[in-house]
Amino acid sequence: MALGRLPRIAILASGRGSNFSAIASAVHDGKLAAEIVLVGSDRGDALVLEKAQSLGIKTLVEKDQARLAMALKELQVDYVVLAGFMRILKKDFISSFHDARGFSRIVNIHPSLLPELPGLDSYRRAFEQKLPKTGVTVHFVDAGVDTGPICAQQSFSIADCTSTEEVEKRGLAIEHALYPSTLNWVLANKFDILKQGETLYVRPH
Ligand code: GRF
Repeated sequence: MALGRLPRIAILASGRGSNFSAIASAVHDGKLAAEIVLVGSDRGDALVLEKAQSLGIKTLVEKDQARLAMALKELQVDYVVLAGFMRILKKDFISSFHDARGFSRIVNIHPSLLPELPGLDSYRRAFEQKLPKTGVTVHFVDAGVDTGPICAQQSFSIADCTSTEEVEKRGLAIEHALYPSTLNWVLANKFDILKQGETLYVRPH
């Protein structure tokens, strides 16, 4: 996809939006070549909306995924970036954001080393299961829950953590660096997709 302009992204989030802030800072600092054209949420009370508005970024509250997809198309969004979006995307929404190769142009960040600990509360479950380490995964979204080709992963030790909050604090610090740096090469379309067994990996080139 040679765009001849900055990739246009929409960030979808349901809550506090610390990943949104990290992405917006990376854009502002010139570390992420992208334009954030919209922050969308399924919840009118999501803190991320205030954060976006304070930066002058357009916001939208929309629960209906068909209408959401239409709004994103109207804004000529190239990539959809999920950052704590708590809805499962419907097949129709996902298939309306495929690239020419048939891969998703929707990216997500998940707080575990996928395929371990998909679903909700992954930092809490890692802590409660007394795992020695957990991690963060950035991946393309497909029709499954926290499945889809993996773009980047980073693990961290939690053996000495005494609470879920400590695990989350450590994880979020990694998320805030890993997400913008991964998006930088994903949005520039500088990647290949490799198959290892049944798993697809996205690797920068
Ligand atoms: C993050 O832990 C992210 O990995 C998960 O949801 C959380 C969102 O946090 N998908 P925030 O709203 O970006 O602060």
